[in-house]
Amino acid sequence: MIIIKKIKKMAAFSRELRHRGCSIGFVPTMGALHQGHLSLIQKARRECDKVVVSIFVNPAQFGPKEDFKKYPRVFPRDVRLCRKAGVDAVFYPDAKEMYPDNYKTYILVSDLSDVLCGKFRPGHFKGVATVVAKLFNIVQPDTAYFGQKDAQQAVIIGKMALDLNLPVKIKIMPTWREKDGLAMSSRNLYLSKEERKEAPVLFQSLNLAEGLIGSGISSTDKIIRAMKAIIGEKKSAKIDYISVVDLENLKPLRRVTGRCLVALAAWIGRTRLIDNIIIRR
Ligand code: PAJ
Repeated sequence: MIIIKKIKKMAAFSRELRHRGCSIGFVPTMGALHQGHLSLIQKARRECDKVVVSIFVNPAQFGPKEDFKKYPRVFPRDVRLCRKAGVDAVFYPDAKEMYPDNYKTYILVSDLSDVLCGKFRPGHFKGVATVVAKLFNIVQPDTAYFGQKDAQQAVIIGKMALDLNLPVKIKIMPTWREKDGLAMSSRNLYLSKEERKEAPVLFQSLNLAEGLIGSGISSTDKIIRAMKAIIGEKKSAKIDYISVVDLENLKPLRRVTGRCLVALAAWIGRTRLIDNIIIRR
């Protein structure tokens, strides 16, 4: 496995692979890898000749008051995990090379970026779409793998790839969870012992929604109220939003009829967590 820091070197490496007829699977990450990330890497390993993982804590997707500075950075451990998982190349660029002084160009996937998390994190998805487009251009993958955990991100990247005719196939993989249901996230490292005990309530509330829909309730107001009630019982929890939305356009639904996405973001203490499930009625 090689570690590549320079953009030109990464692009040359990919060019060479493609020249040799190898397919390239790509998993973009911000590091602090866990089983959720590894499941994407393993899928890429099974489906592609070569696997590239990027590790880049992207400043453009963090707001001024967000956790960019304290985001966990554990590069040597990530490298070990990548090596064990059979990754061929880790791309670990410098922020200064990705965004030199006088950087000007951003990608905005309109509408989809302003709802759900976009309302609470202005500019976040513009930063995500921009860095992912840059990474695609540098790595030139055949297939890129994303997690359902970040459902809105997955929808936005899919739309960007479609709208911009990017020659890359986007695959979305299921959310990996801890035994108690908490969705794996690099940010779980921030939770105190007490908070960690309360955090699974987010997944429990999603299961409750699934149960209610299964029992025939279709009013999204009712579903959201029930979810709010059980999350409200935990003293460390504060909800940013709970929404039941259309899977493609992310618009809120009044009634659940076919497939829908139930998505939420909540603070557990000082840590903002997100989770979601897709439910078919
Ligand atoms: P990061 O949070 O490191 O996540 C990298 C990829 O892993 C994303 O596609 C994310 O959805 C997926 N992932 C995270 N937790 C997961 C889980 N529990 N189960 C399955 N997949 C999971 O998402 C980002 O980084 C960044 O926004 C990025 C796309 C790299 C752009 O900077």
